[in-house]
Amino acid sequence: MLFKQQAWLRQKLLVLGSLAIGSLLYLVARVGSLDRLQPICPIEGRFGARSQAEFPLRALQFKRGLLHEFRKGNTSKEQVRLHDLVQQLPRAIIIGVRKGGTRALLEMLNLHPAVVKASQEIHFFDNDENYAKGIEWYRKKMPFSYPQQITIEKSPAYFITEEVPERIYKMNSSIKLLIIVREPTTRAISDYTQVLEGKERKNKTYYKFEKLAIDPNTCEVNTKYKAVRTSIYTKHLERWLKYFPIEQFHIVDGDRLITEPLPELQLVEKFLNLPPRISQYNLYFNATRGFYCLRFNIIFNKCLAGSKGRIHPEVDPSVITKLRKFFHPFNQKFYQITGRTLNWP
Ligand code: A3P
Repeated sequence: MLFKQQAWLRQKLLVLGSLAIGSLLYLVARVGSLDRLQPICPIEGRFGARSQAEFPLRALQFKRGLLHEFRKGNTSKEQVRLHDLVQQLPRAIIIGVRKGGTRALLEMLNLHPAVVKASQEIHFFDNDENYAKGIEWYRKKMPFSYPQQITIEKSPAYFITEEVPERIYKMNSSIKLLIIVREPTTRAISDYTQVLEGKERKNKTYYKFEKLAIDPNTCEVNTKYKAVRTSIYTKHLERWLKYFPIEQFHIVDGDRLITEPLPELQLVEKFLNLPPRISQYNLYFNATRGFYCLRFNIIFNKCLAGSKGRIHPEVDPSVITKLRKFFHPFNQKFYQITGRTLNWP
């Protein structure tokens, strides 16, 4: 009898003990998950109503793996619905400049848990055929994201294409516009190098940079050469300013993004009203590549493709001097309009 009572008591204690441990575990888990969903930093947004929302950043980071799967197309409608994923129009666009470091900027911003990049250049606003397909076509080209995240796309041709400012304005007059610039002569040579490489790949010959950049008849800078025209940043910016106030633009120093990316990215975080989340941990210098590469976590890191960071051909120093002299007054105007002085020669 006594033995039976003891066994009953032991069983009861066991049940009570399990219940207590279970409750304790539940509480710990609940507090943990609540903490994860707790907004870390409220965002004071200039993005309208939704931007006033707070970004549960740690939760977003936690779900990034999932997003990655969705981006690869490994997703069903059910999963999209279940995870509240949406395809959102961009709330910021890197509009240029070609060879300014647009890819590096997009990839580096994508390190931020509240940012989702459109991987491909969409060319919606600069390509009439694409534009005619309508805004829903454009939205469907965007990656899946959580509603609190912001989508960013980059198409460097936007900066120099006549029709683009008005078209973007019609989509969203308060959109944020990012322009990454490099010292104009270096950018023009980089532009030339890209075209040259394309020609060489097709076994075609091409002119020397000097021949294209300098008009042989006048010996002056050839302003008809596209690589030169693109580097007259102020001319293009002035067209954009007919539609958007200067406060809606942020100028990124592309030369500094190469040598010292973090402070440039922190300025962009500020401009986008994002809490600072990109850190030195996310960026490491790769001596073989000669550039900073990206570290997402202990497992996943990557450098940009080999087509970024090409070796430029040698250019006659007198041509470089001539080009720098030519760009100088345009640069001064650009500093004056943007309020960002870049100390180019
Ligand atoms: P170069 O190939 O002339 O060196 P874009 O993406 O707009 O085409 O710009 C390409 C430029 O991005 C490259 O020009 C390179 O200098 C610059 N760049 C900036 N940061 C880089 C990085 N971390 N890795 C590779 N290239 C980078």
